[in-house]
Amino acid sequence: MALIPYSRQSISHEDITSINQVITSDFLTQGPKVQDFERELSNWFGVEDAVVCSSGTAALHLAYAAAGVGEGSLGIIPAITFSATANALKYQSAQISFCDVSPHTGLIDPESLEYCLEQVSEEQKEKTNIVTPVSFAGSVAPLEKCSLLAKEHGFGLIEDASHSPGAWKQEESGSKTKSSSGLWEDASTLSFHPVKHICCGEGGAVLTNSGKLAESARKLRSHGIARPFGENHETPWRYEQEELGWNYRLTDLQAALGISQLKRLDDFLTQRRALASRYLESLKEKPFCDHFELPEIDPGNAWHLFVIRFKEKGKRDLAHKFLKEKNVLTQVHYVPLYRHPYFEKMVGKIRLPGAETFYRGCLSIPLYPHLTVNDQDKVIEELGNFVNQFS
Ligand SMILES: Cc1ncc(COP(=O)(O)O)c(C=O)c1O
Repeated sequence: MALIPYSRQSISHEDITSINQVITSDFLTQGPKVQDFERELSNWFGVEDAVVCSSGTAALHLAYAAAGVGEGSLGIIPAITFSATANALKYQSAQISFCDVSPHTGLIDPESLEYCLEQVSEEQKEKTNIVTPVSFAGSVAPLEKCSLLAKEHGFGLIEDASHSPGAWKQEESGSKTKSSSGLWEDASTLSFHPVKHICCGEGGAVLTNSGKLAESARKLRSHGIARPFGENHETPWRYEQEELGWNYRLTDLQAALGISQLKRLDDFLTQRRALASRYLESLKEKPFCDHFELPEIDPGNAWHLFVIRFKEKGKRDLAHKFLKEKNVLTQVHYVPLYRHPYFEKMVGKIRLPGAETFYRGCLSIPLYPHLTVNDQDKVIEELGNFVNQFS
C-alpha cells in the first residue's frame, strides 16, 4: 500500500507547460513573470501590492524589515507556529516574547496578547515593535482584536498567513474577517512551499496596502539596491545600493509555476474544504471519536492542516507511530517554540498552558487537494484500529 503523506503538492499539465515556456525564454530570473505573478496575487487577494520572494521565511524577514523592525525591537508571536515566524525577527536582531494560544485551536489568545503587551516597558514602546498572529492551520487568527490591542500599545501587526490563503471567519457580530485582507494588518506573508496551498518549489510573498512597505520590501529583496534614474537619463545603467538587503528574489521559473497554481487556488480550497467536511462528518459518527477533539466546523477555514487533538496524555505519540506503520504519515504542528533549545536559551524554561495543552494532543492527519476518498477512508479506519488496540 502506498504511503499517504500528511500533505503534498498538486502539479497539473498546465503547471508543467508554464515552466517549460519560461525555461526556453530569455529570462530565467528577473524577467516579466515576477511582475505578472505579483499583479495576479494582488488581484486575487484584493490588496494594493504583492512582493514575491524566495520563501515564506524571506517574506517574513522582508515584512519585518520593511515595517522597521530592527535591533532593540520586540516581536510578540504565538508559541504555536513554525520557527520561521520567530527566526525572521532574530535575523533583525529583535527580541521575542511568546504569547499563549487557545488550547482548542492553537490560535493566538487575545487575553494572553493583552497581558504580554501590558508587560512592555514605556522605553520599549518607543521602538518599532510588532505583533505577528499566525492564521494557523487555515483558521483566521483573531486579527481585529489583535490589531486593536497592537494599536493601543503602539505595535505594528504582520499576519503570518502561510497557512491561510483564502480563509475567512464569520464573527459573532456578523462581520467577516478575511486573512490577508490588508484591513487589520500592515502586511501579511505567504509561503509557496509544496505542502502549502499553492507551490513554487520554494517561494513566498508579502501582501500589503502600504505602498511604502511594499517599496521597501521590494528593494530589500534585491540587496537594498534602487534604480533612481529612468531609461531617459544619461546613465540609465546606474543602480545604487541604499541599504543592506538580501538576494531573496523569486525566479521566473518559480513565478510561472506560481501563476499557474494561483489559477487553481479556488479549486484547491474547494477540494480541501470538501475533504475536511468529509473527515468531520465521518469521524464524529464513530464511537472511537470520543478519544480526540475535532476541529470546529468552519466554512471559511482554508484547511491547510486537519488537526485532531488526543485527549489522553501519551496517545498522540502512540498514534503517530501506529499510523506510520500502516503507511499513514502524520505530523505534529507544533512543538511550542519556547521548548526548542535555541529559544529556551533566550527566554528560559517557560510553559504556557494553552500551548502545552494544544501541543500534547495535536496530530495533523493527511489533507491535500488530491487525497482520494479511498485514502481518506483508510486514514479513518486506521485511526479506529489504533483506538481499539490502545484503549
Ligand atoms: C506558519 C509558517 N510561517 C512561515 C513558514 C515559512 O515558510 P517557508 O518554508 O516557505 O520559508 C512556514 C513554513 O512551513 C509556516 O508554516
